[in-house]
Amino acid sequence: MKFKIFETYEEASAYSAELLAEVIRTKRDAVLGLATGSSPEGMYKEIIRRYEAGEIDFSQVKSINLDEYVGLTGDHDQSYRYFMDTHLFNHVNINKANTHVPQGVGQDLAALAKAYDELIENLGGIDVQVLGIGANGHIGFNEPEHELHLKTHVAELKPETIEANARFFESRDDVPTKAVTMGIGAILSAKKIILIASGESKAEAVKALEDDFISTHVPATLLKLHADVTVVLDKEAASLL
Ligand code: GLP
Repeated sequence: MKFKIFETYEEASAYSAELLAEVIRTKRDAVLGLATGSSPEGMYKEIIRRYEAGEIDFSQVKSINLDEYVGLTGDHDQSYRYFMDTHLFNHVNINKANTHVPQGVGQDLAALAKAYDELIENLGGIDVQVLGIGANGHIGFNEPEHELHLKTHVAELKPETIEANARFFESRDDVPTKAVTMGIGAILSAKKIILIASGESKAEAVKALEDDFISTHVPATLLKLHADVTVVLDKEAASLL
């Protein structure tokens, strides 16, 4: 695991954008594993700026997102599909048909989850996976548990995650309690991983990435088993390192 620490969130975001741009430069039809949340927002802004400057071409790029709330359709302004459309896809020349976000609404979410893993396989795997991290160490919506799932599945959100995400909803009661998330298997199978963390609230979880242990109770620590992970931090997130 490589740790890259920056004075500001903006500098950290620019660095993450460069890592992502490099993958697309090397492989025009790269499969990008993408994440939502406030952590990668700055990176997407910088990516759009670079696209507008003619530095990145998304015409062949494919994307596959980590997770989606159960019960929210893509047009709900807090759905992760909506986030991706408004924060990235609507601003670059990616073919919308090549963008994939798990479906959080459907009669048989288990079947949809299975199809999502097949889709990842059919795409030829993930070239680079972008991740944020929950204050409790979750990645995607793989929450701290005795056991973690390898495959895409429906996850029950922890109270602290519902609390943390309540800021985006009108009230805490509006936050979905379940989500569909890629499992740890797909995440670890990505060729390269970029984990972005910003702010003091993430410092404890980031510290666990440096310490010498892995635990399903801090899901992000499993990333230590991967050979190519870059952890991009602002100085607040890095304050306990
Ligand atoms: C959310 C998402 C994660 C995200 C994390 C941190 O619940 N499911 O994919 O990385 O929590 O979010 P943020 O970047 O807004 O702090």
